[in-house]
Amino acid sequence: MQQDMNEKQNRLNRYVRGWLILGLVLVFGQILIGGVTRLTGSGLSITKWEIITGTLPPMTTEAWEQEFALYKETPQYALINDGMSLSEFKFIYFWEYLHRLWARWMGLVFLIPFLIFWRKGMLSGRLIRQLCILVGLAAVTASFGWIMVASGLIERPWVNAYKLSTHLLLGFSVFLYLLHILVGAIWPHGVGPSRSKHHRNLVALLSLLVFQIFLGGMMSGMKAGFAYPTWPDMHGAWMPAMLGDVSHWTVENFVDYDETGFMVALVQFMHRITAYLLIIIGLRYYIRYRTAHVSPWYDRIHTLWIILLIIQVTLGILTLLGFQRGMPVALGSAHQMVALLLVSTLVVQWTWIMEARRSPRSVQVDEVGSVGQDTMR
Ligand code: HEM
Repeated sequence: MQQDMNEKQNRLNRYVRGWLILGLVLVFGQILIGGVTRLTGSGLSITKWEIITGTLPPMTTEAWEQEFALYKETPQYALINDGMSLSEFKFIYFWEYLHRLWARWMGLVFLIPFLIFWRKGMLSGRLIRQLCILVGLAAVTASFGWIMVASGLIERPWVNAYKLSTHLLLGFSVFLYLLHILVGAIWPHGVGPSRSKHHRNLVALLSLLVFQIFLGGMMSGMKAGFAYPTWPDMHGAWMPAMLGDVSHWTVENFVDYDETGFMVALVQFMHRITAYLLIIIGLRYYIRYRTAHVSPWYDRIHTLWIILLIIQVTLGILTLLGFQRGMPVALGSAHQMVALLLVSTLVVQWTWIMEARRSPRSVQVDEVGSVGQDTMR
C-alpha cells in the first residue's frame, strides 16, 4: 500500500509535466537566441547588467543615444563597428536585449508555478531537490553570461573564447538537466540496459561529445571558421604545419590565444579530428546496441542518435565552407542546435539506465537483448 502511495506521488501530475515541457521549450529557445546573438555580433551591445531596471528597452531617442554612447566606448565599436549608425546599433541591441529579456521571462515562468505546485504538495521530495539544483545551475549560467560579456568590454573587441565556451556548456547543461528530470519523472519505472558495459560505453561517448561541444564553443569564440574555411584539407594540408612545431606549444599561446594563429589552428584541427572519432565510436556504439531492444522508445532514441550524428557532421562541414562567404548565421545556428539535440539523445539513454538502476522492480536487459531479473539491491 505504502509503495503504491510513493509510486503515485512520484507519478507526475499533468500540470507539472506540462510546465516542465514548457520550461524545456523556453530553454531551447534561449540557446537558439544566444547563438543568433553571437553570430550577428550583438553580444556586446548592452554594456551594463541591470537585472530589474534593464527590463525595459530605451523608449526615447535620447535614451537610445545614451545607450549608443556607452557602446561607442567599447573596444568593439572602436576596432570593428566605428561609424555604425543608430539603426544598425538598434539591430545588435535587439538581439542582446531579447536574450536577456528571455532569461527574465524564463525565471518568471519557472518560479511562480514552482511555488504554487510546491505549496499544493504536487511535487515529490526528489523533484523539489532536482528543481532547486536546476535553479542554481540557471543562476550560474546567467552570471557567467555577464562575466563573459564583461570580458569583451576591456581590450578584445570580442568576448573571451574560454568564457563563451563555458557559458555555452552551462546553457546546454540547464537544458540537459531539465530533460533528465523530465525523462526520469515520466518513466519512473522501466526496463533498462544492464548496468556495466553499456553504461560505461555510453558515459565514455557522452564525455567525448561534451569535449567536442567545448571545442565547438572555442571555434565560435575564436571565429576559427575564418582561418581555414576549406574541407577536407586545412589550406592544402591535413594538419597545419605550425602544430608540428613544438616552439608554438607555450602557455602564452593558450592564454593569449588571439596573439598568434596557433590556437585557432589547434582548435579547428581538434574539432575536426574529434568529429571523425565521434563518427567511428558513435557508429560502433549504435551497431552494438541497436539489437538491445530495451523498449520501442529507447530504440527510437538510439536510432535518432546516429541520424543526428551524420546530420551534425554534415552541417559542420557546410558551416565551415560557409565562412568563405562571411559569417554563416543560419548554418552556424543549425550546427549549434543539432549539437544540443545530439547530446540530448545520449542524456535520455543515460537517464533510462539510471532510472532502471533506481527502480527495485526494474527489469535489466543485457547486451544481447535477453531479459534477466535484477537482484534486489
Ligand atoms: C559530432 C560532431 C560535431 C559536434 C557535436 C559539433 C559541435 C559544435 C558546437 C556546439 C559548436 C558551437 C556552436 C556555437 O557556439 O554556436 C560548433 C562550432 C563549429 N563547428 Fe562543429 N561540431 C561537430 C562537427 C563539426 C565538423 C565535422 C566541422 C567541420 C569540419 C565543424 C565545424 C564547426 C565550425 C566552423 C564552428 C564555428 C561556427 C561559428 O562560429 O558559429 N563541426 N560545433
